[in-house]
Amino acid sequence: MSKVVIFNGSPRKNGYTAKLLDQVTNGAKSKSAEIIEFDLNDSGIRGCQGCYYCRTHDGCAIQDYLQPMYEAINEADAIIFGSPIYYHQITGQAKVWLDRTFPMIGGLGDFVPRHPGKKIITIFAQGGADPKIGADDINFINNVFALYGWDLTDSIHCCGTHDSNFAISEELSLRAFTDGEKLIRHL
Ligand SMILES: Cc1cc2nc3c(=O)[nH]c(=O)nc-3n(C[C@H](O)[C@H](O)[C@H](O)COP(=O)(O)O)c2cc1C
Repeated sequence: MSKVVIFNGSPRKNGYTAKLLDQVTNGAKSKSAEIIEFDLNDSGIRGCQGCYYCRTHDGCAIQDYLQPMYEAINEADAIIFGSPIYYHQITGQAKVWLDRTFPMIGGLGDFVPRHPGKKIITIFAQGGADPKIGADDINFINNVFALYGWDLTDSIHCCGTHDSNFAISEELSLRAFTDGEKLIRHL
């Protein structure tokens, strides 16, 4: 069975990031994927301590809520990451998680991917309608995943959520669902 790991960087359980993540998840589930979800807003998550344990070990020395994610990623066929845009960047919660993914690359200067070959979909939601607002950070984050050797299947940037008439369009919703399906079909 295909395994998919979800990382949700939004504190809002019914926010737009969560809704789109649900759609991708539903698409993957419709193809019988096994889903493991990590809520990056969990208070049991510690930030990277800069101990550099992961430079010589494939894993992290911190024993907390995120510790099981290393095995989950190792076993995963695909990863789905979502975050709102706060101050033109991913949320603080998502950034804390990103730092904790440092074990995905080994060595000191060579940064060899330790777990390449995963499919990844990224989801971002922002209040402003102008896609340029979050674009630089989204590009940066997607490039980090490329450095990990993960293959970006789709990156959804949902803009304009603060518009009083805003609703996720049928088209975007379908795109997210189909992304989830394709994630499994392409494995
Ligand atoms: C602290 C904070 C900072 C934000 N900064 C931005 C921003 O820089 N640009 C923007 O377009 N929207 C910004 N927003 C709005 C969020 O991106 C928007 O509410 C988005 O829909 C949140 O995602 P969610 O619906 O998944 O919770 C900010 C919201 C908060 C709470």
